[in-house]
Amino acid sequence: MFESVKTAPPDPILGLSEAFARDPRPHKINLSVGVFKDAAGKTPVLGVVKDAEQRLLAEETSKGYKPIEGDPEFGKLVRGLLFGDASPLVGDGRAVTAHTPGGTGALRVAADYLRAQHPGASVWVSDPTWVNHPKVFEAAGLAVRTYPYFDAAGNRVDFDAMLAALGAAPAGDVILLHGGCHNPTGADLSRAQWQGVAKLLAERKLLPLVDFAYQGFGTGLEEDAEGVRLVAAELPEILVCSSFSKNFGLYNERTGALTALAGTPEVANAVLSQLKSCIRANYSNPPAHGGAIVRAVLADPVLRKRWVVELAEMRDRINGMRREFVKQLEAKGAKGNFGFIAEQRGMFSFSGLTKAQVERLRDDFAIYAVGSGRINVAGMTPANIGPLTDAIVAVLG
Ligand code: LMR
Repeated sequence: MFESVKTAPPDPILGLSEAFARDPRPHKINLSVGVFKDAAGKTPVLGVVKDAEQRLLAEETSKGYKPIEGDPEFGKLVRGLLFGDASPLVGDGRAVTAHTPGGTGALRVAADYLRAQHPGASVWVSDPTWVNHPKVFEAAGLAVRTYPYFDAAGNRVDFDAMLAALGAAPAGDVILLHGGCHNPTGADLSRAQWQGVAKLLAERKLLPLVDFAYQGFGTGLEEDAEGVRLVAAELPEILVCSSFSKNFGLYNERTGALTALAGTPEVANAVLSQLKSCIRANYSNPPAHGGAIVRAVLADPVLRKRWVVELAEMRDRINGMRREFVKQLEAKGAKGNFGFIAEQRGMFSFSGLTKAQVERLRDDFAIYAVGSGRINVAGMTPANIGPLTDAIVAVLG
């Protein structure tokens, strides 16, 4: 049966990491996958995570299964991050949370749930969006449509076009919004724009699904949650996918969460029961370790404070690299205006490089970026930014 199987194309993001690992050139630079690097080019384990792990190791008494939806205390702490610790939504039963294997796992559970409960709904994603979004929803059997998001010429959100498209979406469809640090463009909605979107979704009876993978990488933990909180204030029902890959550096622990907000605790419980049914048929119950780390850090005021500081250090390093990148490109006479890169938020910049220029960077300079022109600013270091900007100036011609 396997003889006729054709080789699948490599993943547009993770496939590049595989190619990067195989590349023998010692000066190679990886700006493809969204992984934070420190100034020395390493992806560190946060100090606070190491300490929490040591504590967990000493205190752990069992490897017994977690509940299908994970640890309830973890869920509560996640809701505190999303809605604010003082929000009634943390504990009044209207919001329920499942601990999932990463943000991707949260998206897939949401997709399975939507397919089971609302099989006719389409999921609308921004154009452009994370390349894996359509794949996750299509794999669950949902139809995917796109709404315009980015004005490439002006390097900004094309808000009028976005609103016009969402205004024409049929009631009951699902609108995927990036909670912040839009992947791949780095261009986010302003507060007023979030308000406009929330109002429109409420009027049109559309369900927001917020992918919130970078909380704390934009401006700060609270500031970055402004959009989610505005949507939650305006609409009775939302889904939010959280990831702790980036803000806790827990990439390979696969730690995320799916939170559903409903009109009443009774409805929320019914939704949770259906989420559990999807989870049971998929991975049964979540891997414990990453969630235990997040719980241990968030529940302890001292560890939490240290986490906030380490997160700010990562964010500041990225923003420093943004400024340096623009400065060097301008100093080296790069063709074009790159000032907008310093304004973008999160790990990524949509550089404006064409597919051919991205290929030339890889072939001639061993620099790996995603085909769309997305570059991971968190992969830039004081050591590689010189050769990197030289190469970009060269491919721009
Ligand atoms: C990215 O966009 O690079 C990250 O979200 C990692 C991934 O899984 O693609």
